[in-house]
Amino acid sequence: MDFRQVIENRRAVNFFDTEKDVSEDQLRQILETAARAPSSFNLQPWSLMVLRDKEEKLRLQKHAWDQPKVSEAPVTMIILADMDGWQAGHRFVEKNFDSLVETGMMSEGQRDWFHNACKNLYGASMERQMAFACKNTGFFAMALMLAAKDLGIDTHPMDGFDIDGVKKEFNIPENYWIPLLLSAGYFRSDKTMLPPKWRKSFDEMVVRFD
Ligand SMILES: Cc1cc2nc3c(=O)[nH]c(=O)nc-3n(C[C@H](O)[C@H](O)[C@H](O)COP(=O)(O)O)c2cc1C
Repeated sequence: MDFRQVIENRRAVNFFDTEKDVSEDQLRQILETAARAPSSFNLQPWSLMVLRDKEEKLRLQKHAWDQPKVSEAPVTMIILADMDGWQAGHRFVEKNFDSLVETGMMSEGQRDWFHNACKNLYGASMERQMAFACKNTGFFAMALMLAAKDLGIDTHPMDGFDIDGVKKEFNIPENYWIPLLLSAGYFRSDKTMLPPKWRKSFDEMVVRFD
């Protein structure tokens, strides 16, 4: 599919074919494509839990407004945003800096500067930490939905869930926020897709505050 087709054909589908699986290879391809998403300082504060087992998906569904798509989709993901993903000593923060040094983009002597820059930008308050984690993870999630559609796989993002309930149910550590749940699979062919939803126009999006 070309880019325009991917964008226009991606829909939040409500009904998944329970007989059609998404293979491990397809999922890997989707995630590796989505990982090309940009992130601040390339910190990539995203990770995810992949649920395929029906019992596990039902455990999630009971915290997700009992939305049937959670268990009907062959794959439902709990998308995680790491609010600590900017801190000195964090595995991926250091890996990221090592890579900047290896590629000659920074020198070892700039490590403290880098940690301080991250701390000043993202560590100032809980709100900043959450914004850092969720905005970057949002780009990843969008890329994931488009990468899936490019392979003909449909998705559905969900906010309708109890974050504390999900964290407790799946032993998710404190440092993660859950920006969304994401189901993936194939639209059920005996259902009718709802017409495309309205979108803001150019004039509705562009604002000034003079
Ligand atoms: C972060 C996020 C959370 C959402 N949460 C839900 C949800 O819990 N349940 C639901 O039915 N739809 C949910 N949606 C789907 C939206 O309603 C849908 O994307 C929007 O109406 C536009 O439709 P389209 O994606 O088919 O173009 C969510 C979408 C996003 C991006």
